Amino acid sequence: MKLVVLISGTGSNLLKVLEACASQFIAGEVVAVISNKPSAKGLDFAQQFNVPAHVLEQSDFQSREAHDQAIADQIASYQPDYIVLAGYMRILTEQFIARFDNQIINIHPSLLPLYKGLNTHQRAIDDGQKQAGCTVHLVTPELDSGQILAQAIVPVLFDDQAESLAKRVQKAEHLLYPQVLRWLGEGELSIRPQLTFQQKKLPASGLQLTPEALEVAQAKINSTRTH
Ligand code: GRF
Repeated sequence: MKLVVLISGTGSNLLKVLEACASQFIAGEVVAVISNKPSAKGLDFAQQFNVPAHVLEQSDFQSREAHDQAIADQIASYQPDYIVLAGYMRILTEQFIARFDNQIINIHPSLLPLYKGLNTHQRAIDDGQKQAGCTVHLVTPELDSGQILAQAIVPVLFDDQAESLAKRVQKAEHLLYPQVLRWLGEGELSIRPQLTFQQKKLPASGLQLTPEALEVAQAKINSTRTH
């Protein structure tokens, strides 16, 4: 399974995916990293793992469409199975999404369909939510609205600030994204011709998991592999 990862910033999810490919937890390879920001810290991780990295800045292009077209051409040259958005802070054009139909995956820091867009943690706290989490979903032209593949659920604690909740959610992201990519690589989760998990139709709400369950499952897999 070939993955191209798109980033704009820190790249902590990218790092987890790179590590999971290196340890063969994911039966796949990150074949390229693309950033729209030259300052993205995640570019260092690409270098550490010897993965080709490309920076394509919007300011070097005449329009959003031209920028997305250049990124799409760069991606297509690697013929990836999936395009993994990991903190890529741009809304993709419809043409881009149509070109890679059912191949673009995103991770979003809320339990979608709640809290699409930005500032998700503060909004969850303001609403008095008892649970928060992250969602891995397919990307469609409507923002944060594609089919949900899986969610990891964490509690909202009574004294949480946006920052403390964000940390808890991000820890869950680091478990969830590699897990979903592992399932895709193993064919356990399949998107085409239909969305299935372990050969059963995937529910519209996707798979619901806890970080604890993910951690246990991953530790088990890692220990059987190293023995
Ligand atoms: C993550 O919180 C993800 O949910 C959101 O952007 C953030 C990226 O973080 N889409 P990082 O760059 O992977 O550290």
